[in-house]
Amino acid sequence: MKKILYNPDFHRNNRTILAKSLQPSSIAIITGNDELNRNGDQNFPFRQSSDLFYFTGIEQEKTMLVLCPEHPDPKMREIIFAIKPDPILETWTGYKLTTEEIWATSGIKTVKWINDADMVLRDLILNAENIYLNLNEYTKYQNPVSYQAERLAHELKQSYPAHRFHRLAPLITIQRLIKQPIEIEHMQEACKITGTAFQRVLKFVKPGVTEYEVEAEMIHEFIRKGARGHAYQPIVGSGENALVLHYTENSGTCKNGELLLMDFGAEYGNYAADCSRTIPVNGKFTPRQKACYEAVLRVQKSATKLFVPGKTIDEINKTVWKMMEEEMIGLGLFTAKEVKSQDPEKPLFFNYLMHGVAHFIGLDVHDVGSKYQKLKRGMVLTLEPGIYIKDENIGIRIENNIVVDEVPIDLMTEIPREVSEIEALMHQ
Ligand code: GLY
Ligand code: MN
Ligand code: MN
Repeated sequence: MKKILYNPDFHRNNRTILAKSLQPSSIAIITGNDELNRNGDQNFPFRQSSDLFYFTGIEQEKTMLVLCPEHPDPKMREIIFAIKPDPILETWTGYKLTTEEIWATSGIKTVKWINDADMVLRDLILNAENIYLNLNEYTKYQNPVSYQAERLAHELKQSYPAHRFHRLAPLITIQRLIKQPIEIEHMQEACKITGTAFQRVLKFVKPGVTEYEVEAEMIHEFIRKGARGHAYQPIVGSGENALVLHYTENSGTCKNGELLLMDFGAEYGNYAADCSRTIPVNGKFTPRQKACYEAVLRVQKSATKLFVPGKTIDEINKTVWKMMEEEMIGLGLFTAKEVKSQDPEKPLFFNYLMHGVAHFIGLDVHDVGSKYQKLKRGMVLTLEPGIYIKDENIGIRIENNIVVDEVPIDLMTEIPREVSEIEALMHQ
């Protein structure tokens, strides 16, 4: 994987802002991700916790950041705990960062070894009244597997019951929501690489190719362009598979006359792209497929203007659903009269579009932030209207990534989405 260097000032500045938002006499502990076991002695590929990366730039496992902005000893105000490099072990485990490299990446001079963390933490905690921890507060998070911050919260509550415990997530969310220019540059690059993969796919797809061959075309382009790989499990679904919203098996064959729905995005410098495109397997939309596709495209184009300061995802969902409802009437899926008498709890459009059409994106494809959060300049979201008509084997989604501004900025304008462009590129 290509090494992508960050400016330590970015991480330093992020820490300064966080430190200022803590109450007086506080310690903030930001843990890294666990190394998750697959089977036996094999682990799943390691990906650093987005929070820890945001505040340090350190991608190495077994790393922890501690901030104690008012510690009497200035050297103890910012500490990174890391693996102690061991030249003999490194023959097996690979290279580990030196103290100087950690300093150069993060801007933090005080580096201590992770094996000594308990002892050092005791001193730091006893010099503070408040303990802040970075628990996963994503609304839809559901996972029975414990993780470092959660285990640490239990341990510290046992050991230091007289301290006051606080949530870091609301503070970090506010920071991570607004993307800085360097972050938008990385997201733009992730979108650009995703676009080159799509161009490659357009040249490759024809009746008889498999969904996994299409996935292979994508990953080939991602890795050769310096991305880590997919930002999330890609969806490559042809025909009826395009109707399964979270289809990731990608094991089917793309057949003549079907639509192929792809939801895919590169991760570049730890930032995600999240793109969906739908193409005709044989290179030409049927009149009905084209009518449905253009309905979704019209809505996407028109809804881009909603990504302005002051709106919320909740409002955008409702507006886009209404726009799609109009289009569905035009496509003959139901009538305006039927809409008037529908059960408001079960609107008719929901039979053909059953998901929200926007989420925040950044270091994570489903990035931090709530659907009630008022949008501000510099936030980045997806816009992903779709239509899924089971009886006609039609599944369409078009998804772009938009930066909130008075005039919203679409990071995916270079990725073809017009019927004429897609058909022309598939026939080259
Ligand atoms: N790729 C996941 C999503 O569109 O939300
Ligand atoms: Mn998305
Ligand atoms: Mn997507």
